Amino acid sequence: MFKTAALGLCLASALFASVSQAAEEPLIIKFSHVVTEDTPKGRGALLFQKLVNQQLAGRVRVEVYPDSSLFNDAEEIDALLRNEVQLLAPTLSNLSQYNAELKVFDLPFLFDDLAAVERFQRRRPSQQMLSSMVNHGIVGLSYWNNGMKQLSANRPLRNPQDAKGLAFRIQQSPVLEGQFAAVGAKGVNVPFTQSYQAVKNGQIQGAENPWSNLSSHRFHTLQPYITESNHGVMSYMFITNATFWNALPFELRSELQAIADKVTQAVNAEAQAINARERERIVAAGTSRLITLNQAQRDAWREAMTPLYQQVEKEVGAEMIRAALIVNR
Ligand code: SIN
Repeated sequence: MFKTAALGLCLASALFASVSQAAEEPLIIKFSHVVTEDTPKGRGALLFQKLVNQQLAGRVRVEVYPDSSLFNDAEEIDALLRNEVQLLAPTLSNLSQYNAELKVFDLPFLFDDLAAVERFQRRRPSQQMLSSMVNHGIVGLSYWNNGMKQLSANRPLRNPQDAKGLAFRIQQSPVLEGQFAAVGAKGVNVPFTQSYQAVKNGQIQGAENPWSNLSSHRFHTLQPYITESNHGVMSYMFITNATFWNALPFELRSELQAIADKVTQAVNAEAQAINARERERIVAAGTSRLITLNQAQRDAWREAMTPLYQQVEKEVGAEMIRAALIVNR
């Protein structure tokens, strides 16, 4: 009797010890991404880490894995769904397989600039997209912007015909494939980390990137021409695993969401300046010639690529495209 009671006491105290030890262990949140640290997304990840580690010290610790050091862009969403990482910020192109409406963001010449993109992201259709992938196990916390995309190539691209016959590296996106097909070129899906090598070995002859990605992955050292086309946007969704997120105590989830909101503001406030700085860096390096388009040339690219809208309209609806177009002022 005494022995049983003693054993019970021992078990209870062992359980208590392990529970209190578990309670003392901070929750680890892994944030994986595919770009370098001094880019809009890289800086956002570090700021999120800093604020969480300061404000929720002892309760939560964020670990950041940059530049595909844990998973590349072809692997990271599956890793999130397996809860091997809890935070990502994939491009909207890579997320459009989970909600076809996100394809609207890939349409070329839809947004005049980053400010228009942000206005659209604040509107209801974009806000609804954040919560639209819960059934797939993904919760969208907010949008992070990188910048407008530029075309780089091994020949000068002034008119749409100049792109004919070239293979351009694209993300996993039928819209981006259609965009290059519209000018007689080919879109080839290559993970971001492998793109530099694909240009180097001649598998692809062109790419599209915001200045920050062009510069941080040194595309300008390989591609002799960059056309300042601003033809599309590269935006991210800051996402988490739905099961992980919904299992968090309400108060902790609210604190994390508040930090995510603050970081989102900071990322979007500095994205343009980072891209402007990287543009200057590329110009100063002098390894690629910068081509600016006059109005007639820009109109020609727009005219060649916009027939794509009719195809995409079948999936996202005419109203969605109209809602995006009206944010331009
Ligand atoms: C990223 O910025 O996340 C990668 C972009 C790309 O795949 O081009």
